[in-house]
Amino acid sequence: MMKKFIININFILLTSFLSIAHAEPKSIEVLHWWTSGGEAQAIDVLKKEMESQGFQWKNGGSIMGGGGEQQRLVIKARINAHTPPDAMLIQGNIIKNYTDNNLLSNLDALAAKENWAKIIPEPLQKIVKINRHWMAVPINIHRSHWIWANKKIFDKLHITPPKSFSELIQISEKIKKAGYIPLAHGGQSWQDAILFDSAVLSVGGIHFYKKALVDLDKTALNSETMKKVFEQLKQLRSMIDKNFMDREWNLATAMVIHEKAAMQIMGDWVKGEFIKAGKKPNQDFLCFEYPGTQGNFLFISDTFGMLNAPKNQINSQHTLATTMMNKTFQEKFNQAKGSIPSRLDINPENLDDCAKKSYSDFKQALKNNTALQRFDTNIPSEERTIIFNVVSHFFQKNNQSPEEAVKALNYCLDNHTRKQGFISLSYEGC
Ligand code: GAL
Repeated sequence: MMKKFIININFILLTSFLSIAHAEPKSIEVLHWWTSGGEAQAIDVLKKEMESQGFQWKNGGSIMGGGGEQQRLVIKARINAHTPPDAMLIQGNIIKNYTDNNLLSNLDALAAKENWAKIIPEPLQKIVKINRHWMAVPINIHRSHWIWANKKIFDKLHITPPKSFSELIQISEKIKKAGYIPLAHGGQSWQDAILFDSAVLSVGGIHFYKKALVDLDKTALNSETMKKVFEQLKQLRSMIDKNFMDREWNLATAMVIHEKAAMQIMGDWVKGEFIKAGKKPNQDFLCFEYPGTQGNFLFISDTFGMLNAPKNQINSQHTLATTMMNKTFQEKFNQAKGSIPSRLDINPENLDDCAKKSYSDFKQALKNNTALQRFDTNIPSEERTIIFNVVSHFFQKNNQSPEEAVKALNYCLDNHTRKQGFISLSYEGC
């Protein structure tokens, strides 16, 4: 009798547990801006991985717009409405900003358990650890100063990856003569900034880059070197087609994939588009550094912050973080995304040719102290906006001389500093 009673109680407990579990399926919502073909393919790897662990993947988390410009607005609204997602794609110094505003949950316990301090490269730790606390999960490392080229066009015209900027000009002329667009580009400020900072790195080297764009050092910003950077930009401007304004980066990539354009200067999320189109590195496309930047490694890490959540979501957030740091997951995800894993213990044999190069260049740059986080997520957002504006104005309107652009850059940054947060639009070019 007693035994039967216990069994019945157990049965009741079990069924009520199951019905609770049934009523509230584990779910996870991740906000990001990965909507291009390659990006969607990568986020799908994460979705499937979470689903295989019993999670319902909540849709509606992706916001169109390369580089995350739109997401920054949407997330503010979600936070103000007290309906934050469980996790969000967040980069660079925005992590500090969110931490200071008490919006992110602390991942110290998980990081200790999984030994993140040992496996995550130092420069990435500096980004995701705020006041020695782990506040975000780095899922990858993107390198920004690549050139992606259509191999068929290169082979047909007997050209090889240029080693210097003047070689880049020479091959571009050849490409143009043969009827192709040398450079596919989209006129959006964050894309223009990719060309700009590749040029800064190429003309000035990594120490100059840091001085000018990260430390915002006045002498560097006002130098002859900076003038040469804008000269390079002017030359790049002559390599693009006239319909470039507002073109999304992935549509520029499609021009290279479909043999309309020969090259694109862009981060390695471009590789995701090639992979999605069934193309292979060194067979269908080439990947090489923007000439003059060899040996350096400017990077962007896509990191995810877990937003402060009701207690019942904390376990889900931790499962998400554990999944994102998992070695096999990272290999699969980053193959689709175009980036390299954020772990130091990856077997390079598991990577394709471009990723293999990137991974070994990154490790070498770590040794040589030539790996640096890109400026756009490394400086306060006001300064970032000003630099973006000046560069875009110069590049898109194409009516200033390099001297004028240097003057605008300095004037706009100075003006802003003096007026504390107020961005003056009175000067043409800010
Ligand atoms: C970058 C991001 C990449 C890629 C790119 C274009 O900021 O790090 O993952 O998505 O924007 O959308």
